[in-house]
Amino acid sequence: MIFYFSGSGNSYYAARLMAENLKLSLISMAECLKQGNFEFDSVKNNMYGFVFPVYFWSMPFLVKEFIKQLQLKTNKNTYTFVVFICGGDTGNAANQFKKLLRKSNINLSAVYSIQQIDIFVPVFKIPEKEKCDKSVLKSSIEVENILKHIKTGYSGNMDTNTYKISKPATFLFQPVYNYYRRTSKFRVSDNCTSCKKCENICPLDVIKIVNNKPVWQKKKCTLCLSCLHICPVQAIDYGKVLFFFDSKDKGRYRNPYAEKGY
Ligand SMILES: Cc1cc2nc3c(=O)[nH]c(=O)nc-3n(C[C@H](O)[C@H](O)[C@H](O)COP(=O)(O)O)c2cc1C
Ligand code: SF4
Ligand code: SF4
Repeated sequence: MIFYFSGSGNSYYAARLMAENLKLSLISMAECLKQGNFEFDSVKNNMYGFVFPVYFWSMPFLVKEFIKQLQLKTNKNTYTFVVFICGGDTGNAANQFKKLLRKSNINLSAVYSIQQIDIFVPVFKIPEKEKCDKSVLKSSIEVENILKHIKTGYSGNMDTNTYKISKPATFLFQPVYNYYRRTSKFRVSDNCTSCKKCENICPLDVIKIVNNKPVWQKKKCTLCLSCLHICPVQAIDYGKVLFFFDSKDKGRYRNPYAEKGY
């Protein structure tokens, strides 16, 4: 079983390649949260994987909410791995995820990470298409390498995208993430055509089209930015970050092989 969460499709793409290769079922954490589905039994093939993006050097809110309620059937031979999809730095995500799993009586066997396009456009700019395509190709090669390790039963930490400063400093970012999860930061321009793509893609069902425009119905969300990236006319923007940055003219991105929303 591979559990995944994905905003712009990078994690979904990696999770799907892995599930196909390992012949495991692919399960959306967002769907499970919506349906209240938290009990799983994979003792037959004895392997559980988690694939999701790194947010603020740690985990997305949605992933934390899912793991807190997760009940997995395991035994002493169960192999459990995580693959972090990141823009460049996973911070202390590995230790935080390990601790969270332990609270649900799950032991983490191995940690892997893959660097992909950074979709946090309130700060970073999406590169030109050629660079994005190369990044997707590189990620599929990294998936193959990770699969080789998984098949040998590798146990340990193979995360090569974490750095000396970010690891101990991760805790500083947690209140920042919580602050920027406020949906009041989203703006919608008159370009909106009421196509409902943003409403349909939101993994937490936060958006409803009211009077032909999206309205965020909850005060906070998981900040996956898929509503902003999927808008075909770039009508959604995210307001100022650190008084200076915003998402205007930073480009938009979806993994070309992610046919599903999340
Ligand atoms: C709210 C938010 C916070 C992020 N924080 C980090 C981070 O701390 N470190 C990092 O390397 N990438 C960070 N990223 C980038 C994503 O991890 C990266 O773009 C990933 O490919 C997104 O995966 P997805 O397409 O499955 O959503 C962040 C992205 C978002 C939306
Ligand atoms: S995706 Fe864009 S155009 Fe479509 S309803 Fe949302 S904001 Fe409007
Ligand atoms: S409102 Fe947008 S950013 Fe927030 S969870 Fe929904 S799709 Fe993601």
